[in-house]
Amino acid sequence: MPHDLVLAPSILSADFARLGEEIRTVEPAVPWIHVDVMDGHYVPNLTIGPPVVKAIRGATDRYLDTHLMITDPRTYAPQFVAAGSDSVTFHPEVDDDPLDLVHRLHEDGARVGVALKPAQPLSMVTELLPHVDLLLVMTVEPGFGGQSFMHEVVPKIAEADAWRRDHDADFRLEVDGGIAEDTVALTVEAGADTFVAGSAVFRHDDRVAAVHRILDAARAATAGATG
Ligand code: DX5
Ligand code: ZN
Repeated sequence: MPHDLVLAPSILSADFARLGEEIRTVEPAVPWIHVDVMDGHYVPNLTIGPPVVKAIRGATDRYLDTHLMITDPRTYAPQFVAAGSDSVTFHPEVDDDPLDLVHRLHEDGARVGVALKPAQPLSMVTELLPHVDLLLVMTVEPGFGGQSFMHEVVPKIAEADAWRRDHDADFRLEVDGGIAEDTVALTVEAGADTFVAGSAVFRHDDRVAAVHRILDAARAATAGATG
């Protein structure tokens, strides 16, 4: 079953001093909010911890799509779930038994995703894919917002979508990094259904209009692909 198209604004590009208000500026346009968690080890940047997710949980009822760019998801992912994350997505190479971690997080009641960096092949996660709710394909190197979309990742998105069809799997296929009006169509044509966009949303004064422009570009690409 194809998934509906979802855009998840990344609050990494929002004003952290006014997070609640910033989230309210996108809420009318989106069902999901993307929360980028960085620990200063997995990536050279430090961002958001469980107390901030708890505060965000109190400020919005939107689905909190939490991207853990951290070296110890086994310790911290459950804390993000307890704080109110609806889903937690981790980079599987940092854990000795990522399938076990997927199961544990499901037992905690969360949806679970795994993420691939641009250079990591799909084969790294194929054993996990039947068990996850989401595959996040990074289209920039993790660590910072505002980078340029890496076109060379597009074939891997198509490969993941083909794998999903061939195996009757139903995980969401999410792309993250450099997604904007002019790049989203390439990812839709390759099979992505879930789009993270930080700077392409929050750099505009009218965030709802910015979301709709990206979604319109995505829908136009779907129409092109099927018709
Ligand atoms: C990068 C993060 C992304 C980032 C995307 O490490 O995972 O979610 O916020 O930002 P933009 O959309 O500006 O590339
Ligand atoms: Zn992210």
